[in-house]
Amino acid sequence: MSIGSAGSEFPRTGFLDRQRQEMQNLVGHLSVCLDNLSMGDGNSAEIRRAYFWKLNDLFEAAIVHFRCEEEWLAAVCYPFLAEHQMEHGHFIEKMSEALLLANEKPIDPTTVKYAAEWIGKHERKSDGNHAE
Ligand SMILES: [Fe+2]
Repeated sequence: MSIGSAGSEFPRTGFLDRQRQEMQNLVGHLSVCLDNLSMGDGNSAEIRRAYFWKLNDLFEAAIVHFRCEEEWLAAVCYPFLAEHQMEHGHFIEKMSEALLLANEKPIDPTTVKYAAEWIGKHERKSDGNHAE
């Protein structure tokens, strides 16, 4: 579904796109941490700390981005807002769990894979449904 120019006064396109790009950048940073760890390149405690804070940044960036996007979708009366919010909620829940475990257990590479795949798929399919 395309909403067209509805709500065009809302600073949506560039702002939300920049937020999405920032989330992808953070996933890229997490991948670098994993690569460094797997290659034994650098101090593992430092890498783990960097990984934790990048994961924390991704979690916070996602919360802010989802809130902004949902506010915009509500403003333009997007008919599938509830479903979209549920998708966002699943991602936040997964990242929240990963963050809680990040200090207690070895880094789980599936978290980064999940985040990269979720963001890519969500952007192509769900966010693409309300893109201009
Ligand atoms: Fe979304």
